[in-house]
Amino acid sequence: MSSIRKRVLVTGGAGFLGSHLGERLLSEGADVLCVDNYFTGRKDNVAHLLANPRFEAMRHDVCFPLYVEVDEIYNLACPASPIHYQFDPVQTTKTSVSGAINMLGLAKRLRAKIFQASTSEVYGDPSVHPQREEYRGNVNAIGPRACYDEGKRCAETLFFDYHRQHRLRIRVARIFNTYGPRMHPNDGRVVSNFIVQALKGEPITLYGDGTQTRAFCYVDDLIDGFVRLMAAPDEVTGPINLGNPVETTVAELAAKIIALTGSRSPIVRRPLPVDDPVQRCPDIDRAKTLLAWQPKIPLDQGLAKTIAYFDKLLTEQRQEPPATVKQLA
Ligand SMILES: NC(=O)c1ccc[n+]([C@@H]2O[C@H](COP(=O)([O-])OP(=O)(O)OC[C@H]3O[C@@H](n4cnc5c(N)ncnc54)[C@H](O)[C@@H]3O)[C@@H](O)[C@H]2O)c1
Repeated sequence: MSSIRKRVLVTGGAGFLGSHLGERLLSEGADVLCVDNYFTGRKDNVAHLLANPRFEAMRHDVCFPLYVEVDEIYNLACPASPIHYQFDPVQTTKTSVSGAINMLGLAKRLRAKIFQASTSEVYGDPSVHPQREEYRGNVNAIGPRACYDEGKRCAETLFFDYHRQHRLRIRVARIFNTYGPRMHPNDGRVVSNFIVQALKGEPITLYGDGTQTRAFCYVDDLIDGFVRLMAAPDEVTGPINLGNPVETTVAELAAKIIALTGSRSPIVRRPLPVDDPVQRCPDIDRAKTLLAWQPKIPLDQGLAKTIAYFDKLLTEQRQEPPATVKQLA
């Protein structure tokens, strides 16, 4: 009997997480359809996959219906950093909500399994630590981050309603801060910010007093959690926290990056942005029990790989001829 290859749709497939997921799925023998409108994603992120006949990239905005034939859907399309999701907040909500409706409709038609990349931001500025999945959150519905937080909350609601109403097989992951190669260099996320500033020898901007904590998960660990969740029995719908429970203060992160890059950058302080949570840390007991998953890659090791990526990227950018010379060449 010939085995049928699994066809997997990854929306937001040219983004940071989507490109790593595509790589992982290809390595497991799946056919991968990457759908992206390239708002924050880059063709460079998937350029190395294009030669693979089992990989296909398609420009499409998930706010519009999509008609393709697949067995599984990972719905990752959505700008993920405050700079990008606040650039066009109405479009951000549309992407989360209309995007979810369109992808759930597709899954319903195909009876496909569907995964939602939700976020720890559904907990808002949390009043309990660490955050367990039962915690209902503390989100400001009218603040500048609401387009993302409430969009993602509504998407979760839609996933569970499709599950209850249409018995769709769903998987909802609440992702905490993740870092690694192919993060956007100017997205204002703390890891990429600090690394780029350190490598350029520019001042490192520390918001607040630096005692706010984050829990940073290396991308390979996270993607392993995605794949395990998708492969789990159908009763494992989530929501399920995926992240690294090791808390680090933002000041400690800056110090580590300065040490690992050997940078002489000074640290400068800036006021904390509105609604920026002071503490964020996942409780991953559910993922440990249901998926036998927990992060393995220590922060120093993940940071070293990420620094190597940004170092190469910045060197390539420095070597690029100015635009006018490039046009003449
Ligand atoms: N990286 C993290 O730490 C993190 C944390 C929590 C949740 N997430 C979620 O994971 C997903 C992927 O995040 P990421 O870090 O890879 O961000 P990213 O910005 O690199 O990737 C998102 C991708 O979605 C695409 N996109 C945006 N709007 C679209 C639309 N309307 N139609 C089609 N494509 C669209 C972008 O072009 C991009 O390629 C997002 O849904 C995000 O909310 C990420």
